Amino acid sequence: MSAKANIGVVGLAVMGSNLARNLASREGNTVAVYNRSSARTEQLITEHPEAGFIASETIDDFVASLAKPRTAIIMVQAGAGTDAVISQLAERFEPGDIIVDGGNALFTDTIRREKDVSATGVHFVGAGISGGEEGALKGPSIMPGGSVESYKTLGPILSSIAAIAEGEPCVTHVGTDGAGHFVKMIHNGIEYADMQLIAEAYDLLRKIGGYTPAEIADIFTEWNTGELESYLIEITAEVLKQVDAKTGQPLVDVILDEAGSKGTGVWTVQTALNLGVPVSGIAEAVFARSLSSQRAQRDAANSLPARNFAFEVPDKAAFVEDVRRALYASKIIAYAQGFDAIRAGAAEYNWNINLGAVSKIWRGGCIIRAQFLNRIAEAYDKDAELLSLLLDPYFTNAVSESLGSWRRIVAGSSLGGIPIPAFASSLSYYDGLRAERLPAAVVQGQRDFFGAHTYKRVDLPGTFHTLWSGDRSEVEAEPSTH
Ligand code: 6PG
Repeated sequence: MSAKANIGVVGLAVMGSNLARNLASREGNTVAVYNRSSARTEQLITEHPEAGFIASETIDDFVASLAKPRTAIIMVQAGAGTDAVISQLAERFEPGDIIVDGGNALFTDTIRREKDVSATGVHFVGAGISGGEEGALKGPSIMPGGSVESYKTLGPILSSIAAIAEGEPCVTHVGTDGAGHFVKMIHNGIEYADMQLIAEAYDLLRKIGGYTPAEIADIFTEWNTGELESYLIEITAEVLKQVDAKTGQPLVDVILDEAGSKGTGVWTVQTALNLGVPVSGIAEAVFARSLSSQRAQRDAANSLPARNFAFEVPDKAAFVEDVRRALYASKIIAYAQGFDAIRAGAAEYNWNINLGAVSKIWRGGCIIRAQFLNRIAEAYDKDAELLSLLLDPYFTNAVSESLGSWRRIVAGSSLGGIPIPAFASSLSYYDGLRAERLPAAVVQGQRDFFGAHTYKRVDLPGTFHTLWSGDRSEVEAEPSTH
């Protein structure tokens, strides 16, 4: 074999094919491709002769077609398939070569794989890639983990294919081992919250505002010119505009209202639960999808009483503005919670993650790309140790200006019997965070009562227990371990 490739792609389903084509279209790259079934490889090279791919029918030929240090990006469905491909490559690669997993792997799997593979001297990099099929082809946002050393080779290659935002490629070395996949997972959690919040806004505009899907599309298009400007608002307008060719109805009215998921939102919430980080807005978005899919329960329950009151809307324009502001404030909560989870993950797994850099690589290419990520980047540039995004003056002010609207929307929806789990939980989170005293004191009292779990006092150091079943005097106690 004469010419060698500086980069290879294994797994040529849509994401893999598009990423390979993107790589091939950039100056300086020669791309090797391999797929388990060679029919797909054949199809790709036939349809895209311009890419100049070096195609292989066997994994041995694929490995032989790569220049050293060999660098291969695996784009197969997360799970057991990934392990199989990793071991095929790891057996053939030499120290210094680089295996990249570009799928949506669970970050703990990535930590395990990195440990196993790097023991052989081969680098293993878990890289989150966001942007769907189009992003893979035209420029995704890329979140690589793995060793600093591997990024020296990989960085320029990934920079060449990443989306560009504000003149910068949307890729950064997020942190070691599983940091990249961790950050991609949180990206997806935020994506779930963002989507659910937009869906709740739609529902209110439809059911309370009385607007048609086409009118709501126009409202969203208008919102997309301001602080809510984002890919998800833009595509929601497209979805709402679409008319079903079969029935002539808005497509949204003929799509079954049961939301699917592939699991990254669930991972985000499970991980946040383990880390003790309240990602309540994201969790409600995940649960809203679960509830939507409980068809038998929903069918059995849809005659349950509502006993609702009217959600009075004296001024429709003011109502639309209330919904917009409630959406913006709730969205800020989702991002604040997501960044809290990244901070907690970084502390737990010893990753040195630069939150400002993460917000910058999310400004382009990825599903949650949005204008206001610039504001987040500015906030972390000003104060890398910011305790909560909500404490940055821009966000404090943005939420404060939206509070009246937000409360009217949450209260009105409750009166009107409209489910708004993400709007409502986000507002409750905000109120909980800013509360001087929380009823957690009652919970501590209850725990001490039934389990002698002890409590701390506001006025004295130490740990205490009340002798609830004795004379109810208070004693100093060892902190409870059970
Ligand atoms: C992305 C997307 C991508 C995928 C989601 C869909 O960043 O490009 O997040 O990873 O579309 O996994 O997730 P659900 O099927 O769970 O909605």
